[in-house]
Amino acid sequence: MGKKLLLQNDKIPGIDTYEVYRQHGGYSSVEKAFKMTSDEVVEEVKKSGLRGRGGAGFPTGMKWSFLAKPEGVPRYLVCNADESEPGTFKDRYLMQRHPHLLIEGMIAASYALGANTAYIYIRGEYFYIVNILEKAIEEAYTAGWLGDNIQGSGYSLNMYVHPGAGAYICGEETALLESLEGKRGNPRIKPPFPAVKGLYACPTVVNNVETIAAVVPILNMGGDEYAKIGIGKSTGTKLISASGHIKKPGVYEIELGLPVEEFIYSEEYCGGILNDKKLKAVVPGGSSVPILPAELSLKTPTGEPRLMSYESLSEVALLAVVCWDQAALL
Ligand SMILES: Cc1cc2nc3c(=O)[nH]c(=O)nc-3n(C[C@H](O)[C@H](O)[C@H](O)COP(=O)(O)O)c2cc1C
Repeated sequence: MGKKLLLQNDKIPGIDTYEVYRQHGGYSSVEKAFKMTSDEVVEEVKKSGLRGRGGAGFPTGMKWSFLAKPEGVPRYLVCNADESEPGTFKDRYLMQRHPHLLIEGMIAASYALGANTAYIYIRGEYFYIVNILEKAIEEAYTAGWLGDNIQGSGYSLNMYVHPGAGAYICGEETALLESLEGKRGNPRIKPPFPAVKGLYACPTVVNNVETIAAVVPILNMGGDEYAKIGIGKSTGTKLISASGHIKKPGVYEIELGLPVEEFIYSEEYCGGILNDKKLKAVVPGGSSVPILPAELSLKTPTGEPRLMSYESLSEVALLAVVCWDQAALL
């Protein structure tokens, strides 16, 4: 069985409520963060080797350390929950089953960045998840994890959910910021990057839902321990949306480095091709990835087993796996 760091509790009834989430150790990463300086939290994320889970795979700790900190200017954390790549639904699953995991990660990340306001920008089609998140945020306020002087730490944070109107381009971080400001979601010219001039022209970090959730196990277990999971520069675990002609479609948490063949054929994950047909092709990721014929999806051109890692597949490919069987293209 592969290690699970995000979805180990997702089948527990009521895990989406504050009470049950807290009973299972929820919010302990924030307690840990408050015993550290914000720079120490950034350092821990750097040590973990975590790379952005939104597609580009940029090292998260490094991105956080680029955030400009001019005196007297607010900083923002924005969670990218636009998830519009075809075949992707991992962030939806995480928010729906584990809203408090995202909120906990948002608090720890905002503390690390010195942000006192955080937004979750969510695609308009996920309107029912807006309700789930808002209920969880309200519970977190009531329990004293949001608002002024959180748990007596002296740190304050307000959190808002902002639904978009459903536009693929609003997943691009600068278009997202335009949309969040109430404008048409057109991408901005970079530089300046959001770390310098982001939301309302203030320093901003935009991170994917899963990236932010991963901060929770990183702080709980320590960056060094997290970095031991995975392979090479692909550390930790990764959520994969699996769909198409497979026996068990769904969202799976894998340890990075898992062979693609094991992911598609083992009972622990996709369970093989539907009706035991032959695999024809794999769409590894969203709209911008090449479709891989069966032999190239399981093996690299040099005959090595293809792995679920940033090095062996493209970054976007790690969002989703969509399988086609032999009959699909006939
Ligand atoms: C056209 C386009 C669509 C994108 N859509 C998403 C998206 O839906 N979700 C997401 O997290 N990142 C998306 N991205 C990547 C974001 O611009 C940004 O790199 C990401 O949110 C950074 O988060 P991370 O470092 O945690 O991965 C998209 C990028 C482009 C160019």
